[in-house]
Amino acid sequence: MLPLSPADPPVVLRRAESPRGELVLRARTSSDGAVVHELIVNGAFAMDSQEVASELRLAQLVVEQGRLGRVAVGGLGLGFTAAALLDADVRHLDVVELEADLVFWAREGVTEQLRRVAADPRCTLHTADVVPWLDTAPEGAFDAVLLDVDNGPDFLIHDSNQRLYRSGVLARALSLVRPEGVLAVWCQHRTPSLERTLTDLGPTTEELVRVQRGRHQIDYAIYLTRHPRGA
Ligand SMILES: C[S@@+](CC[C@H](N)C(=O)[O-])C[C@H]1O[C@@H](n2cnc3c(N)ncnc32)[C@H](O)[C@@H]1O
Repeated sequence: MLPLSPADPPVVLRRAESPRGELVLRARTSSDGAVVHELIVNGAFAMDSQEVASELRLAQLVVEQGRLGRVAVGGLGLGFTAAALLDADVRHLDVVELEADLVFWAREGVTEQLRRVAADPRCTLHTADVVPWLDTAPEGAFDAVLLDVDNGPDFLIHDSNQRLYRSGVLARALSLVRPEGVLAVWCQHRTPSLERTLTDLGPTTEELVRVQRGRHQIDYAIYLTRHPRGA
């Protein structure tokens, strides 16, 4: 049963244990009466469905590049980035998600958004760590690769995700896009070290997305790197 009022505590919809820790999907009611989904990964708040401006902007930045043939997204989360790309008529979407339970819940249709992403015939959900997955994906096959799997290199939910922000792995991600394509990386805040690493690989822009979370104002950062051959 869903919580009926903002005063009610969140209701756990699904809970699972993985070797990395606990994964929880829960629902609460916001002050305007809407149902808000929350995703907790490894004991840390990963995201909720109330404030998704930066997840949507991540998709929009890629849509603005024009061609939307094949696109890869690292990190399913609550499915907002993926759904926005599908709404923008991407031809094929590969979504790579570490947590098998989250993929299972999406296929079960635990939230309408996750159901829609999992049921879309243009979308392939891969249960995998995106770092080794990048090594298996075909070079030059994608119009864009988007990475939203962790908070950023200096504030990790999973320590093992440190690898993702290394130059060699980001270079591999960029090699998957065609020469006019882009690599987009979401971060919880401005990260100059990551911007420098990406700039060494190709022309890079930083966009800040300002959101209000309760009394806190947060500037999320999205880095967009062009393939050096298309620049
Ligand atoms: C913040 S959420 C992504 C939010 C998503 N952009 C959205 O719009 O809902 C991060 C997701 O990345 C997943 N993840 C974390 N590390 C990963 C990895 N190494 N490979 C693939 N997925 C990973 C988490 O389980 C979580 O589902």
